[in-house]
Amino acid sequence: MSLKTAQNLLELIGQTPLVRLNKVMDQSPHEFYAKIEYFNPGGSVKDRLGLALIEGAEKRGELKPGGTIVEATSGNTGLGLAFVSALKGYKCIFIMPDKISEEKRAILRAYGAQVVITPSGVEPEDPRSYLSVSRKIAENTPNSFYANQYHNPDNAKIHAITTGPEIWEQMKGDVDAIVGGAGTGGTLSGIGMFMKEKKSKTQIICADPIGSILYDLYYHKKVIDPPKPYKVEGVGEDMLPDNVHLDLMHGFVQVTDQEAFSMTRRLISEEALCVGPSSGMIMVGALKYAQKLTKPSKIVVIFPDNGRAYLSKVFNDQWMVENGLLDAAKIKNSFAKVVNAEDFYQQKNWKFE
Ligand SMILES: Cc1ncc(COP(=O)(O)O)c(C=O)c1O
Repeated sequence: MSLKTAQNLLELIGQTPLVRLNKVMDQSPHEFYAKIEYFNPGGSVKDRLGLALIEGAEKRGELKPGGTIVEATSGNTGLGLAFVSALKGYKCIFIMPDKISEEKRAILRAYGAQVVITPSGVEPEDPRSYLSVSRKIAENTPNSFYANQYHNPDNAKIHAITTGPEIWEQMKGDVDAIVGGAGTGGTLSGIGMFMKEKKSKTQIICADPIGSILYDLYYHKKVIDPPKPYKVEGVGEDMLPDNVHLDLMHGFVQVTDQEAFSMTRRLISEEALCVGPSSGMIMVGALKYAQKLTKPSKIVVIFPDNGRAYLSKVFNDQWMVENGLLDAAKIKNSFAKVVNAEDFYQQKNWKFE
């Protein structure tokens, strides 16, 4: 065994493990492998992006020592940027929609970032929208760099030079499909760029939450169902980011919140994978896609982040019931209640002796 010592945490970004799934696919004849992005040192796929956006800006002279990074982020990109900034000495201001979990806001503040919350459910062009507010803050903050993850080409590029090649190496080039989600689109587009360059036949499949417009844009070239709110964080869109390269995708699959959240709970209890709801959505998307395949296939799913950021949501029975994601009457899929020792002993007919 050769164990290496890293000189700093930045060296530990990427090279995440790929692990075979063994239970949640039930009787499916296909092989499923999960790329576990929570192994990144900041806890999500967005560490790759944080480093790429910052180093890209440094190279172009857009980010100078002591500068401030401004970004509209649903949490994970903020964490990636805050993590890299803490090591490189930059300040951060993050603009986030109000639906984002309390845990995600708290961790960003712990890294020293300023968090600004904007209302969800307003049009992107609205001056109150998180994109508009971000632009305004960036324009009016001296010595600042607007990271612009949705449109900055460094985003997809980092996945073309890291995530894609890693999967290729881990699967020894034998992979029929890769299923992921698209928020900015960087992850799947970058992997798609790499696969195209390789002239590989690997199918790039996007799982999209119901309520996102990306599915319609892919199949109908226009929005048919207007965007609607949904509970899965970090994936799906109400506009088309430059980093979503629809021409590199081979299919889209729609997933409901209920399917996504229920699968997220199966992933932790059956596979011991503590991942966020976007991973549940991607797994369901992969299973739906796989149902249509006629020969046994090898499918890689990208699991973007850690479930610990969602303890108050997907892993909280009351929140699940209140949001119509878990049936209170048949709480079969619920977790064991926390009880005090006295009640536990009483149920067992034990005594303190
Ligand atoms: C939890 C989560 N899953 C998936 C994604 C999608 O990744 P990408 O922005 O590369 O499309 C994101 C992006 O923010 C995310 O935060």
